[in-house]
Amino acid sequence: MLKKSILTMDKLKKKDIYNILDDALLFSNSFKDWHLSRKRLIANLFFEPSTRTHYSFISAENQLGLNIADFNPQTSSLTKGESLYDTVKTFSCIGYDAVIIRHTQDNYFEELENIDVHIINAGDGKGNHPSQSLLDLYTVYDEFKTFENINVLIVGDVKHSRVAHSNIHAFEKMGANVKVTGPLELMDKDDKRYVNFDKGIKWADVVMLLRVQFERHGELLKIKKDEYLKKYGLTIERYEKMKKHAIIMHPAPVNRGIEIDDLLVECEKSRIFRQMTNGVYIRKAMIKYIFDEEF
Ligand code: CP
Repeated sequence: MLKKSILTMDKLKKKDIYNILDDALLFSNSFKDWHLSRKRLIANLFFEPSTRTHYSFISAENQLGLNIADFNPQTSSLTKGESLYDTVKTFSCIGYDAVIIRHTQDNYFEELENIDVHIINAGDGKGNHPSQSLLDLYTVYDEFKTFENINVLIVGDVKHSRVAHSNIHAFEKMGANVKVTGPLELMDKDDKRYVNFDKGIKWADVVMLLRVQFERHGELLKIKKDEYLKKYGLTIERYEKMKKHAIIMHPAPVNRGIEIDDLLVECEKSRIFRQMTNGVYIRKAMIKYIFDEEF
């Protein structure tokens, strides 16, 4: 990469992660109104649907005083066959300082490394989702004030989840313990982290649910949607086995009544909507980081 970018969690050092978390904390309180030192142009290039990531980046960009372009693939030259490389190169040539990209292709950013523009990866296929991972780290750190020996149970469709793939390594790097559970056909092959859900729920300080991605691979699941909750979802019965201080997380969107009982989405232990609020602080901190700005 020619310019400072955030593409995957493994490229971020522990020190950089702590800096981003500390800045996000300041954005949540005393530095709410802080702006970048000069106007910069940023473009949001979402080639795949998104609510939280897309619009919380827009919220963060507005709060930081950026000039924003919101790219629409349907009305762009993508419809005439333009490649991702040519689209991003165009934004760099016409004066954009940074681009935020979500794309269906795993590791799409590898082909963009010689383009002179800052890139933040807003999700690539089933590969990486660093802004989600950072906001998840922030949510856990805010709750427990440490990562050391915090037990994180990731539940559900691990195999197709960029959130799980980013988070497993990020949480382990920060000192947490990670286990996974869910339908065996949705686990990564031979993952030694696998644990039975009913055992894992008593071990966990954080129960991190994942969305079942029916639109990508619903056919892989050998059970019906309504059986999923009972077998692999967070039911009231499993909720009652959670530790007193344990919390529930989910990157959302949530399939209510499938990964989690509808009644638990906003229960006392749930941090699902708090994660979304934290996402804006984290995305402000990520933008500050790529532009190397100081408070
Ligand atoms: N969590 C997440 O990435 O949600 P969106 O797909 O709505 O951005």
